[in-house]
Amino acid sequence: MTLKIVRNILDLRRETASWRAQGLVSAVVPTMGALHRGHLTLVQEGLKRADRVVTTIFVNPKQFGPQEDLGRYPRTEAADVAQLEEAGAHLVFAPQPNEVYPPGFATSIVMAGPAKAGLEDKFRPHFFDGVATVVAKLFTQSEAQFAMFGEKDYQQLLVVRRMARDLDLPIEVIGVPTVREESGLALSSRNAYLSKAEHHQAASLHRILTQAAVKIKAGQKPTRATAAARRALTTRGFRVDYVAARNAETLALPREADEPMRLLAAVWLGTTRLIDNIAV
Ligand code: PAF
Repeated sequence: MTLKIVRNILDLRRETASWRAQGLVSAVVPTMGALHRGHLTLVQEGLKRADRVVTTIFVNPKQFGPQEDLGRYPRTEAADVAQLEEAGAHLVFAPQPNEVYPPGFATSIVMAGPAKAGLEDKFRPHFFDGVATVVAKLFTQSEAQFAMFGEKDYQQLLVVRRMARDLDLPIEVIGVPTVREESGLALSSRNAYLSKAEHHQAASLHRILTQAAVKIKAGQKPTRATAAARRALTTRGFRVDYVAARNAETLALPREADEPMRLLAAVWLGTTRLIDNIAV
């Protein structure tokens, strides 16, 4: 069966309504395309929970700042669709910007809580309101019961989960562990921007985070471990936006040695910005 692609909300709703009429459970995998194994894992995890998986492909202009990479963000729809078909997805929703934000569109979801943790939000102030707005729309458009999000964008996962709870959206947000290359480098659509040398260098981000996590687990103060990680990253040629240890559920600064913690980092290699995080 060829994977069906729909480009407007009416057609999407028609498909998902027929699934519901048959008593089928569905999961949505929101993406911006440029798919890699990490996205396909989200589809596979969706298929474990649901009878039908809809993947959305939409490069959301509202989550890019004026100086960011909206124009050069990789667009690879034909290859994406082929991979989704192989992975067993049932439907692709790939709308044009006008379908999502028609003329006169005037609503935005403004978030606090995990969206104001002083991490991604500090460097990309427009980002989470743009994500929350589009994801709330994709949730209501798809009417899926499950939504699959990668832990690679850990702050985003917590923001989306908070938004769905706060707006009483009847959907369960599932976090899926980050898929990594053998080197430890987290898979990301933005890895496509890296030169061969940068790609090699990028793997040390995960190594340095892992070393910091080991030290914290062994009793070192998180601030000391993250300061050392920052120095190690700078020495290896990264420009560091942040390296931080935070409470894994709230992203607040850790207070107790035994609370669940997450180490999160954002760095630049040349003109490419990479983010990663691991559990402590
Ligand atoms: O993680 C992404 O690719 C995007 O932020 C998302 C969730 C698809 C919203 O545009």
